[in-house]
Amino acid sequence: MIRLRSRSAADTRAIGGVLADVAGPGDVILLTGDLGAGKTVLAKGFGAALGITEPMTSPTFTLVREYDSDPPLHHLDVYRLVGPGEITDLDLPSLLDDGGITLIEWGEVVLGAVPPDYLRVELDLAPPTEDPDVRTVVLTAVGGPWSARMHRLSEALGPWVVS
Ligand SMILES: Nc1ncnc2c1ncn2[C@@H]1O[C@H](COP(=O)(O)OP(=O)(O)OP(=O)(O)O)[C@@H](O)[C@H]1O
Ligand SMILES: [Mg+2]
Repeated sequence: MIRLRSRSAADTRAIGGVLADVAGPGDVILLTGDLGAGKTVLAKGFGAALGITEPMTSPTFTLVREYDSDPPLHHLDVYRLVGPGEITDLDLPSLLDDGGITLIEWGEVVLGAVPPDYLRVELDLAPPTEDPDVRTVVLTAVGGPWSARMHRLSEALGPWVVS
């Protein structure tokens, strides 16, 4: 587990960029955290590091947005999904199987439908007594492939790591 402190949207964007640098084809990243925690900000930094130049918005209504980067990026926001039927309609297995990177906002909603290996990124708003721009970001590797990259990640994320 790696615990980070972001002090601004720019920090969170940069953290997203570092994650993109260590991610590769087939990877799944679940973003969790309340409304306004910064999931989309992190996704934008991730996309920018993959070379995506078109504007990225939260796919709240479309559920999935596809970007033609290398590797391709699938950006999902499953906040509005209600029930297992809709999760099936999303056809996650074929999305996950096409060599792209899959980034899922509100990822905890589809936990039962994702592969056993993923990186969980938990964003939390600061307590009300703190600077409102502060976020805690906790990275948890689930499964071998991400666990093997945690050391490299924590070095690259050094400026934001808190103990
Ligand atoms: N440290 C920070 N990290 C990320 N965003 C921050 C930070 N400080 C302030 N912000 C602001 O908080 C907002 C985060 O919005 P964002 O859309 O990324 O949240 P979200 O988690 O995707 O919410 P939703 O669940 O509604 O999609 C932005 O307006 C951003 O500028
Ligand atoms: Mg969002």
